[in-house]
Amino acid sequence: MNPGLHDALQAFGPQAAHVVDLWRIFLFVCTGVFALVMAALVYALWRAPRIRVQEAPDLRTVNRPEPGPRRSVAAAVTAVVLLLLVLIVASVFTDRALARLPLKDAVNIEVVAHQWWWTVKYVDEAVSETFETANEIHVPVGRPVVVKLNSDDVIHSLWIPSLSGKKDLIPGRTAVLAFQADKPGLYRGQCAEFCGFQHAFMAFDVHAHEPAAYEAWRRQQLATPPPPAQAQLQRGKALVESTSCAMCHAVQGTQAQGRRGPNLTHLASRRTLAAGTLPNTPENLASWILDPHKHKPGVNMPANPMSGEDLAAIVAYLGTLR
Ligand code: CUA
Repeated sequence: MNPGLHDALQAFGPQAAHVVDLWRIFLFVCTGVFALVMAALVYALWRAPRIRVQEAPDLRTVNRPEPGPRRSVAAAVTAVVLLLLVLIVASVFTDRALARLPLKDAVNIEVVAHQWWWTVKYVDEAVSETFETANEIHVPVGRPVVVKLNSDDVIHSLWIPSLSGKKDLIPGRTAVLAFQADKPGLYRGQCAEFCGFQHAFMAFDVHAHEPAAYEAWRRQQLATPPPPAQAQLQRGKALVESTSCAMCHAVQGTQAQGRRGPNLTHLASRRTLAAGTLPNTPENLASWILDPHKHKPGVNMPANPMSGEDLAAIVAYLGTLR
C-alpha cells in the first residue's frame, strides 16, 4: 500500500512552506544556542580550579569578586532574551502569513472527527451539490480549501504534514483550517492528538488532483449508485438495508441511512478501510465486517457473525459502490 507523502519538512503548499520556514529558524537558533552552551560548559570544566583530597579548601575564593563571570552571565541572559524575542516575532509573522492565504473561490469542507475515523462533508449552497465521504479528502491543486473542524467525542487533531500545520478538533467548538495543495499527489493525514486506544490508526488520505480530475471525482461522488441488477448483488443490498449495517451506515439511494458510522455510498472508490488501517480489498472488507476488533481493537463497530454466503453477497455489493 503506497502510504502517501507524510513529511513536515517537504512543503507541497504555501501553508506548509510557512511552517517549514519557521521550523528552520527554530532549528538554526536552537542549534546555535546548544553549541554555545556546550562550548561554555567545556571551557568551564577546563578552567575550573583543581583541588586534591589531602589539601584544605581555599575559602578565600568564596569572597573574591568575579567581574568576568558576572559579565558573561549578564551577556548570556541578554542573548537569551533577544533570541526568544526573535522566535516570538518569527512565530507571529508565520501566523500572519498563514492567515493571509487568499480564500477566493475556496472549496468548503466540513470534517467531523470520531473515535477513530473522519466524516468529510463537501458543502455547497446548493444542497444537490453537497455530499459526504469518510477518511479521505480530495482537493483541486492551486485552489484554497477551507476546512471547518468539529469533534463528535474527544479532542482530535487534523494534521497533513506536507500541506499544513495541525489544528485541534474540540467537542462543542468549531475551528477552521485553510490550506492549499500546489502539486497533484497523495498526501497522508493523521490525527495528531492522543484520542484513545486506536489514535494511531486514525489516518486519512488527501488526494490533490488537477482541476478536471477533481471535478470528475466530485461528479462521481454526487452520483447515486444504480440499483444492482444481478441476484447476488441485490441480495447484498437487501442485507445491508435490513440487518444491523443500516443502523450505522448510509448508502445514498437505499434504505440504509444510518449516521453513526462512515457513509458507504462510494466505499469501493476509497483506497483504505477503517481510516487508513487496511488496504481496501474484498478480503480485508470481509474480514473487517466479520470482526473489526481483530484489526482495530476497541472500535465501536461490533463483530457481525454471518454465513459465508451472506458475507460474500454484502462484500460483492459494497464492491460495486464506486
Ligand atoms: Cu483522533 Cu488521535
